[in-house]
Amino acid sequence: MASAYQNVGLYMAIVVVAQHEFPSLSPKNETQNSKFSVLFLSLLLILFSTVSSWKKDEFRNCNQTPFCKRARSRKPNSCSLIAVDVAISDGDLTAKLVSRTPTEVYSVVENENGKTPDPDQNQEEQDNQEQKQDDQSAAPIKPLILTLSVYQDGILRLKIDEDPSLNPPKKRFEVPDVIEPHFLDKKLWLQRFSEEVIDGDSESSIIIYLADGYEVVLRRDPLEVFVRKKNGGKRVISLNSHGLFDFEQLRSKKDGDNWEESFRSHTDSRPYGPQSISFDISFYGADNVYGIPEHATSLALKPTRGPGIEFSEPYRLFNLDVFEYIHDSPFGLYGSIPLMISHGKRGGTSGFFWLNAAEMQIDVLGDGWDSGESKISLPLDQRRIDTLWMSEAGVIDAFFFAGPGPKDVIRQYVMVTGMPAMPQLFAAAYHQCRWNYRDEEDVEHVDSKFDEYDIPYDVLWLDIEHTDGKKYFTWDGVLFPHPEEMQQKLAAKGRHMVTIVDPHIKRDGSYFMHKEATEKGYYVKDATGNDYDGWCWPGSSSYPDILSPEIRAWWADKFSYKNYVGSTPSLYIWNDMNEPSVFNGPEVTMPRDALHVGGVEHRELHNAYGYYFHMGTADGLLKRGDGKDRPFVLSRAFFSGSQRYGAVWTGDNTAEWEHLRISVPMVLTMGLTGLTFAGADVGGYFGNPEPELLVRWYQLGAYYPFFRGHAHHDTTRREPWLFGERNRELMRDAIRTRYVLLPYFYTLFREANTTGVPIMRPLWMEFPADEAAFSNDEAFMVGNSLLVQGIYTERAKHASVYLPGGESWYDLRSGTSYKGGATHKLEVSEEGIPAFQRAGTIIPRKDRYRRSSTQMANDPYTLAFFSSEL
Ligand code: NOJ
Repeated sequence: MASAYQNVGLYMAIVVVAQHEFPSLSPKNETQNSKFSVLFLSLLLILFSTVSSWKKDEFRNCNQTPFCKRARSRKPNSCSLIAVDVAISDGDLTAKLVSRTPTEVYSVVENENGKTPDPDQNQEEQDNQEQKQDDQSAAPIKPLILTLSVYQDGILRLKIDEDPSLNPPKKRFEVPDVIEPHFLDKKLWLQRFSEEVIDGDSESSIIIYLADGYEVVLRRDPLEVFVRKKNGGKRVISLNSHGLFDFEQLRSKKDGDNWEESFRSHTDSRPYGPQSISFDISFYGADNVYGIPEHATSLALKPTRGPGIEFSEPYRLFNLDVFEYIHDSPFGLYGSIPLMISHGKRGGTSGFFWLNAAEMQIDVLGDGWDSGESKISLPLDQRRIDTLWMSEAGVIDAFFFAGPGPKDVIRQYVMVTGMPAMPQLFAAAYHQCRWNYRDEEDVEHVDSKFDEYDIPYDVLWLDIEHTDGKKYFTWDGVLFPHPEEMQQKLAAKGRHMVTIVDPHIKRDGSYFMHKEATEKGYYVKDATGNDYDGWCWPGSSSYPDILSPEIRAWWADKFSYKNYVGSTPSLYIWNDMNEPSVFNGPEVTMPRDALHVGGVEHRELHNAYGYYFHMGTADGLLKRGDGKDRPFVLSRAFFSGSQRYGAVWTGDNTAEWEHLRISVPMVLTMGLTGLTFAGADVGGYFGNPEPELLVRWYQLGAYYPFFRGHAHHDTTRREPWLFGERNRELMRDAIRTRYVLLPYFYTLFREANTTGVPIMRPLWMEFPADEAAFSNDEAFMVGNSLLVQGIYTERAKHASVYLPGGESWYDLRSGTSYKGGATHKLEVSEEGIPAFQRAGTIIPRKDRYRRSSTQMANDPYTLAFFSSEL
């Protein structure tokens, strides 16, 4: 059961003990007293360990995940495939991948029954079992089909799949509705290829045009695909340069085959056997690699394998509801974007994107990882970062982005996956949330306090308790009897409301959503074909099969004013728990062998499940407003393309300084991978922040693209006026800073909407040649004009701020100028965090203080300009 849920239970247990046991304590009753102390202490201990630790054991590590363990144990150069029958067909280059030795068979290294290896079992025993399974499941390698297509602007697409003419047991899943339809019109129809012998190979390699200055090489034997520069032939990105490519083909079950896989109390039936894919990708001229959210870790990704490496787990991409995640871990969180960006002083920027929604694990391989075992000769003069990509299922549908600059790679990526949506102005302003604002009176009270203290805000949020028994699209009749009136009151001040709509549907026969979904057969099915029944906030719940366009349209219709009774035009939506979170499911999510429309297994689609909810909800809001009202939808789960549907946030963080710090690389990474509209819960979701931390969080959060204060129901109330006058002023000033800068933010949202370039940017995106900026993730740019440095420690008196580039920078509050290209040790006051405007830039502002962004509509603009002269 989910830890979030358990924690609620534990909290309740402590309250009960406190109420029933304390009165009986008396000197006369020492035995009882000491019993109580033991009980109380144990409860405290449990509470402490529950509250302060991430439940690692609930989740699988790579060694407990057979495909990951298998792929990681492969030796360099173990791929035996070569490319044959190369041809041009329909403007693409195609080839067959066959085994160099045609009788070769698969060796599937798994232990008996595919069970998670028991760490206590001795190695020899384990290896014997794995070998046994090997022999049982060995199968001949069938040819695979490789297709290379070239698109405008330096984009190479590579697909590898099973050959449909060889009748695989089913079609492997290709993620629909992610590729922007217009992208397909940008294909460059290949007419010819040339040939060249590389490194004394026995066969010539095939060369095709990619873009001016770039070409693609398909090396037949050993199999390799790479992008290189035309002049000088320097490599940019390559696939299979270390011979780690592997593609497990689907199989039909025969008597005696047992591919079941167990983790804790869950068993996955795996009806098609192991079907994973893995390969190595190398980035040349790279000083660092970035991207592949969502992890609470540094911006520049640390190596996960190799001599002296601290992370021994790969970066995991598997959308999960992780209770109290820890900072600095490669562990997978709520969303997944399989896009990695490489950047180097000499090599420029390039990117690699694998459109695949199954569980993925990615190793960043540190220098010396292969102990010199890779046999394919790689250019020694080019600095390189090698990576290993492993996915449980699906196909290879991968995109290579040639760059050459950081903004080029992002433009190339959003050409494939779509531009970030343009929000309404109000959504770019400050949002006030809490689990929960109790009732209409509470809403009115909070709203009036913002006015009383002259603190602007635009949106008030209602979490799950506003519903009738966690039945979304309904209202608790006692607590929220007049939802329309409540929204209208806010709207009269130019404010909006957001309500939560989660994907789990309460299995309650009287609930219209459940009735309709059941009658129409709209739920995801379990492996036996029945409606999947899992446990979430409402208790027993089922989950709409949102992959289906028909079911998505049904979902979208639920947001019409007629269907969502009590909703008004100023109401927008929050999709939470859409990984999906299933409290009693394996790893707190849906079983991998659950079934979606068309026989798609959940394992193939998992990372995109939440994405389709985001899409369906945004479509619903668009439809509701006859296409004229720009939707606002916040989603916790995300996948490539989510940027088209709205905002995302970093989920349930904690009120700790380290979480404030990690929020910056997390939001920067989201921006680098298309998710411009992102933020972290200001204040930290779990725990009670010290006022100083809360103030610093507001000062930093004012620069997140998505700026929302939010907190768990166990925390004490923390609206900005609750911490004394001085702290209230400090928080108000931080929020006002955001309002003053709203015209600048809005302009940046539009820039993102037309180019994909994020609002919050790593320094190296603006200063790509400045090495000192490459791994700086404590400071960031907002657009190209503002640099912000967070303060991440208590009682900080000074901060070291690196100001890149040759121009000077002007302190936003004092106007003092500082030289670029240097680190400055600056005094820090409680009044704000260091923020600077770059010389030679203009920032549009609105300097009058109002209650909400809507009320600023007719206010004059101020243009802040700092000249490039000192
Ligand atoms: C989990 C979300 O991450 C959190 O923000 C929300 O308050 C709770 N679910 C309750 O809905």
